[in-house]
Amino acid sequence: MKTVAVVGSQWGDEGKGKIVDLLAADADVIVRFQGGNNAAHTLVVNGEKFILRLVPAGALHAGKVCVIGNGTVVDPIALVEEIDNLKRRNHLKDDALLRLSYGAHMVMPYHRAIDRAREARLGKSAIGTTGFGIGPAYEDKMSRTGLRFDDLSSFATFKEKLERNISEKNLYLKAVLKAKPVNSAEIVEQMRKVRTRLMRYLGDTSVFLADAIAAGKRVLFEGAHGVMLDIDHGTYPYVTSSNCGASAVFGGAGVAPGKLDGVLGIGKAYATRVGGGPFPSEIQGKLGDTLRIEGDEFGSATGRPRRIGWYDAVLARHAARLNGMWGLALTKLDVLTGIDPLKICVAYELRGTRYDEIPPGRHLLEKVKPVYEELPGWREDITQMRSLAELPASARRYLERIGQLGGVKLAMVGVGAAREATIVIENPFLV
Ligand code: GDP
Ligand code: IMO
Ligand code: MG
Repeated sequence: MKTVAVVGSQWGDEGKGKIVDLLAADADVIVRFQGGNNAAHTLVVNGEKFILRLVPAGALHAGKVCVIGNGTVVDPIALVEEIDNLKRRNHLKDDALLRLSYGAHMVMPYHRAIDRAREARLGKSAIGTTGFGIGPAYEDKMSRTGLRFDDLSSFATFKEKLERNISEKNLYLKAVLKAKPVNSAEIVEQMRKVRTRLMRYLGDTSVFLADAIAAGKRVLFEGAHGVMLDIDHGTYPYVTSSNCGASAVFGGAGVAPGKLDGVLGIGKAYATRVGGGPFPSEIQGKLGDTLRIEGDEFGSATGRPRRIGWYDAVLARHAARLNGMWGLALTKLDVLTGIDPLKICVAYELRGTRYDEIPPGRHLLEKVKPVYEELPGWREDITQMRSLAELPASARRYLERIGQLGGVKLAMVGVGAAREATIVIENPFLV
């Protein structure tokens, strides 16, 4: 395959960054197509840890083009910081290798202020957002009041629109949210500075990608978040404000349907979620704490402890169906070492009825009871293993069962955080 999308199949943090970094070795172009810096993709390369938020996770490979597509929402201050950090660490040296779509919307300080003030007012029923202004920025995009990078071409016109937005948002912040207004002059100055830094990256990324695909280049699309956080197909309203699946590639990168050859879903060998919302296979108590520590399950975006659960095959099927997955990369199998027995949620039960799919009426997910299947665990250290044949028999059985239940073949298995700690069964670029 020449064009491959990597998407999250759970509630985000499945290890997409690590798999994208690994596959980027075989790609020419790596593209983000939705989300913003609410994403945090961790890469561990030569013992060094990198957390990428907006820049595609191909940036650590020299000579690859990284594209930030029109479907993303980009905090320009955060992007400049991220670029600077990467440059300090000897990456992204060549500015021609990063391309930012003219059509991407900008996340402004007032979006962050609104996001945070709304969450504070919601108290116990808060969504648990990252607080980075993602929802409010997508709202402005849809209501056609957002600012796009395109607007930066004339700073005078940009400033006018910006000031108009700020005065409207300040009215809302003060009168409705009872929050502090943002400082208009300060934001204008910040934007003047970031403009001089970001103009060089701007361009029509849809045309760039069409040309790259026509020239036979390999393109890797990097999804953010996961299907259960998808605005349409996730646990609404406990979701993020974008479509997070492969369908978002077309609108969010400006690529025609039919140009995407295959989809690799990423799933963790267990489940996690940050923030509020239903989580049928959640593990309460000591075992959850052990997995949180063993798996280092603390959000890379906000440092919040992630909620922990068993692998949920009902949701895996939902993700596989929506994305038409070619294969699944299952990460963090090593974290399950020493846990016996292991459980997989194979179905739900509600008032005496068994459900093999999410019951109609998503709110029912709050009420369902998971139906578990138990499998034997293993004790051997698997972190140095690089083939399925080396794995203990019970680890192989666990993987097989996950493949069967999800109806998707396993393409990769993660056995550690480092780039090379991966069992590659099939590389999508080499089929
Ligand atoms: P993403 O948002 O999907 O890119 O995932 P995150 O980077 O937010 O979270 C995944 C975490 O698991 C990161 O700390 C990774 O370094 C780590 N990780 C990824 N794959 C593996 C694996 O196979 N084993 C272990 N132990 N850690 C992994
Ligand atoms: P990556 O790409 C995990 C969650 C937030 C919150 C909800 C809405 O690293 O997998 P938002 O700030 O987007 O409005 O918050 O979505 N969330 C994520 N959780 N990983 C992510 O991204 C997430 N992006 C958003 O925790 O519950
Ligand atoms: Mg993450």
